[in-house]
Amino acid sequence: MEFDTLAKRLATLREEGLQAIDAAGTVDALEAVSVAYLGRKGELKTLLGGIGQLSAPDRPRVGAIGNEVREDLEAAMHARRERMGERELEARLVAESVDGTLPGRPLSRGSLHPVIETNREIARIFGQFGFVVYEGPEVETEVRNFQALNIPPDHPARDLWDTLYTDVPGYLLRTHTSPGQIQVMELTRPPIRALLPGRCFRYEAVDASHGFEFFQVEGLMVDQGTTMADLRGLLDAFAHAMFGARRATRFRPGYYPFTEPSVAFDVQCVVCDGAGCSACGRTGWMTILGAGMVHPVVLRNGGLDPERFQGFAFGMGSERITMLRHGIHDIRFFLENDLRFLEQF
Ligand code: PHE
Repeated sequence: MEFDTLAKRLATLREEGLQAIDAAGTVDALEAVSVAYLGRKGELKTLLGGIGQLSAPDRPRVGAIGNEVREDLEAAMHARRERMGERELEARLVAESVDGTLPGRPLSRGSLHPVIETNREIARIFGQFGFVVYEGPEVETEVRNFQALNIPPDHPARDLWDTLYTDVPGYLLRTHTSPGQIQVMELTRPPIRALLPGRCFRYEAVDASHGFEFFQVEGLMVDQGTTMADLRGLLDAFAHAMFGARRATRFRPGYYPFTEPSVAFDVQCVVCDGAGCSACGRTGWMTILGAGMVHPVVLRNGGLDPERFQGFAFGMGSERITMLRHGIHDIRFFLENDLRFLEQF
């Protein structure tokens, strides 16, 4: 082949290549053009294969033209690729764009269970008097749940707490939060002002006012010279904060093996304000907790000398307090997890 012919063919190849590059609409198409023109078996290689038939002085001249064509095509290819990338990016930005002016989707938020909310309110009120929250274990030793609280194994008072025992001898599900009294006395020294909220368990038939699983909040104060008057004053302040400032309160004699003397603490019925109704059994009063002066045996079991230290304890049912606060008539609502009930709080 003549030098002129080859040079012309190269020029044509260059034009065709540039056009093909321009025409390629996608990255894949451009890749195919690259292979067809510049690949190992591409048009340029094939054309330059004829270089051997040229005269010796013509060969480098054609070689130089070939290089130019290759460089031109490569440069065009490169530029095209870049433009393509930019366009693809633009297209993606348009397709994936977020409208920042749209209103957000509201997050649905849960709320505290009404009983937990009551526990917090109780803790807030007693917190104002310096009471600190502790938590005892739900699985307790029989010793701390009973013996340490002055309830020996065969004592008839055990009938007050129908107990769920575990498979492990000596361990049970606590029937009340009172074992926390022992725990706190072991953990700290007087002056003690402790509040112990927690879940309790009893082997009991469930009805509108009894659950086999329920919350109590225990209170314990131990110091030198603590008296029943301190207990009375504190519980009055609590009842007024929880149920209204003008609500009357009273102590009635009660019995617990771990307090002496023991009392039941009543508030004026929150439904009838003392007039007498079905909610208060026509008495005008509602019992909200049990309390008393910590029994000397219990103080001793907690490692304290009853000659030096005196204290009082009280325990209330969180569900009962919650029912009185919100006018709920059936304790079973608290464990049913019916959203129509829970969403009201
Ligand atoms: N633990 C008692 C109960 O479960 C309540 C109580 C606590 C009474 C502390 C007196 C003192 O019934």
